[in-house]
Amino acid sequence: MALRRWIPPAVLEAVGSVLPDRFQRFEVVSNWDDAERRCIGYEQSTIQTHNPTAAANGEKDHRPTSRDLQFIAAVGICLASSRPGPPVRVLDFGGAFGHYFDVAVSAFPNLSWEWAVVETPGLVSLTAGPKAQASISWTSDLDVKLGERWDFVLASGSLHCVPDPMGVLAKLAGIAPYVLLTRLPLWPLDHHLPAVQRLSRWDQGGAYPLWFFSEAVFLEEVGAIGEVVLRFDVPEDTARIAGHRNTYTGMLIRTKDSS
Ligand SMILES: C[S@@+](CC[C@H](N)C(=O)[O-])C[C@H]1O[C@@H](n2cnc3c(N)ncnc32)[C@H](O)[C@@H]1O
Repeated sequence: MALRRWIPPAVLEAVGSVLPDRFQRFEVVSNWDDAERRCIGYEQSTIQTHNPTAAANGEKDHRPTSRDLQFIAAVGICLASSRPGPPVRVLDFGGAFGHYFDVAVSAFPNLSWEWAVVETPGLVSLTAGPKAQASISWTSDLDVKLGERWDFVLASGSLHCVPDPMGVLAKLAGIAPYVLLTRLPLWPLDHHLPAVQRLSRWDQGGAYPLWFFSEAVFLEEVGAIGEVVLRFDVPEDTARIAGHRNTYTGMLIRTKDSS
């Protein structure tokens, strides 16, 4: 909304914090099933807001963000340490239209890639035409991809969207020496909190369930699968929920599976 540009952030924050629950972008709910009951879910939200131009362009028409630079740094660490490939095999969980594939191709022009995006069936169907290339593919069958070895697993903004994030993380950590988790909502809480995220305060249509992770519990769980070798803030992603406004987190994990 253009008005946002003219209103000082502190005023927006103060006004936003006193709006009723139904106008909050993030709302705490009692459990995951409750969150699912209250919204149309990620798949329908994506389809509703799907932008065909973004799919056709592979979302290339934008300036680099800190997310892109952090991704490049993490891949750089993985490449320097384990010298994978060719091709470098990447499993991109919740990778949407494959934006980070484009970033990788631009940032490391001397490498070849075999890139698999695991997405919801709805999103996979949207990717069928526009971006078909030999080195990137889409599937909704995570189990098949878990049966293969990968050099690098990426889960950007997706782990907190699934009902059993820690179960998924344990599986992802078992198939690659490096896992990059980014756009993670880590909060000063004592347990993981289920919530609903609305795409807009004013349009109650698009919404999906998500987790806000207890930072302490999450780090303990990550400790069981590997070691965090790089940790950073993701300044583009912030939220206010459960009495805290926080910036999301990224972390590169060297898994216990690395040999
Ligand atoms: C916040 S978006 C992040 C997209 C992209 N990775 C990025 O960082 O810009 C979350 C993505 O997770 C996907 N997603 C949600 N549930 C999923 C599931 N069960 N399996 C695979 N992907 C899922 C959504 O379709 C969506 O593309």
